[in-house]
Amino acid sequence: MQTIKQYIDDNKQRMLDELFELLRFPSVSADPKYAPEVLKTADYVAQKLRDAGADNVEVCQTAGYPIVYGEKLIDPSKPTVLVYGHYDVQPPDPLELWHTPPFEPTVRDGKIYARGACDDKGQFYMHVKAFELMMQTDGLPCNVKFMIEGEEEVGSNNLGLFVKANRERLKADVVLISDTSMISMEHPSLETGLRGLSYLEVEVTGPNRDLHSGVYGGAVANPATILAKMIASLHDENNHITIPGFYDDVIELTQAERDALNSAPYNEDEYKKDLDVQELWGEKGYSTFERTGTRPTLEVNGIWGGYIGEGAKTVLPSKANAKISMRLVPNQTSEKITQLFTDHFLKIAPPFVKVKVTPHHGGEPVVTPTDSVAYRAAQKAIAEAFGKQPIPTRGGGSIPIVALFEAELGIKTVLMGFGLDSDALHSPNEKYDIFNYYKGIETIPLFHKYFAELSK
Ligand code: BES
Ligand code: MN
Ligand code: MN
Repeated sequence: MQTIKQYIDDNKQRMLDELFELLRFPSVSADPKYAPEVLKTADYVAQKLRDAGADNVEVCQTAGYPIVYGEKLIDPSKPTVLVYGHYDVQPPDPLELWHTPPFEPTVRDGKIYARGACDDKGQFYMHVKAFELMMQTDGLPCNVKFMIEGEEEVGSNNLGLFVKANRERLKADVVLISDTSMISMEHPSLETGLRGLSYLEVEVTGPNRDLHSGVYGGAVANPATILAKMIASLHDENNHITIPGFYDDVIELTQAERDALNSAPYNEDEYKKDLDVQELWGEKGYSTFERTGTRPTLEVNGIWGGYIGEGAKTVLPSKANAKISMRLVPNQTSEKITQLFTDHFLKIAPPFVKVKVTPHHGGEPVVTPTDSVAYRAAQKAIAEAFGKQPIPTRGGGSIPIVALFEAELGIKTVLMGFGLDSDALHSPNEKYDIFNYYKGIETIPLFHKYFAELSK
């Protein structure tokens, strides 16, 4: 323990400076205008892996953005940890809401503000630094492989092929990911599941062109109004989703499982205050943790149509659109839910409009084991670094690769995230606490140590 803390202390500033350098790359995978920067980021990550002591580092080309691979194989009789992370980030929009520029990392009140600070650059880079630490202090107790991708935020479309083509190279005993949240630093936790995702876009078309809303209003259905009504009908008065068959495959938790989840610390007043809402909203009969971690949901991510510029324009739009996503839980599948949504949405379309549904990406839900050697190693590592046993939780977000690793390679994952829900992932002013960054670098070598020990 002392060597870990000592090494971090001796290298504190450099470890932070390097993260800042990484955060300055605007590696936005969703927008092609950033492509050169995304590619540079991959090269930077590869170089940092080499500097830290990894062998066979390669920037692996795919049909999209490259995957950075590196490894340190010390002994075939020792277990192998595959570290996964992503160097791409979400678009920084809306830019005007940032207090400091998204790609100029700035420290305020002990927190690093930048796009990707928490999701996932700040988190995966802890692994690179923890690996360096283990190499420099003769403390690497097992084999390590790194796989850092650049398309997580756009659905990891090319990752499946890469995994299939590299089964041997990616062989490992566990996948270790830091890309999730903890309850708080006072209440360290480990996520033991992630929701799946089905993402679609809908388009409602009324008249064949935009119309003067005075000349035609009252005679022709307004597609924006129709779309709003169709979307509103997707939840009933208990906030259940109304799509027929939607809940058919959902596994209900046992009372014991529900009790365990609900015993995690939660302060509803603070939760509401943080978001500045008077009341929470959600599926009747379930607590907040159950609603976000164990129940499927449907959200409108964006909705548009007609005139949205400055001032007022009187127009009856020809089209209205929305981007809709559904979070899925075991045993729902994105393919089936996408089909159910599409069938239902076309069916509820009134005759005044034409409706088109286009699927985007999907991902499958997962539950990670809590009785494995790797999970116990994570528990021990966190207990030692934080002085407290971690609380198991269920995460509401999605990392589609987790189910893919399980299906393609038969490897289970440990989700050892150090973010906070309040880190504003995907929002303006994303942040990551410097404390969490160093705490992660301290915890990760302990995970490797206990994983190697408990695997014997
Ligand atoms: N790191 C997040 C997922 C996450 C965040 C899990 C917080 C648990 C807690 C990841 O980068 C992400 O944003 N995933 C997307 C899905 C992807 C297919 C675009 C998501 O959850 O919306
Ligand atoms: Mn992420
Ligand atoms: Mn993300």
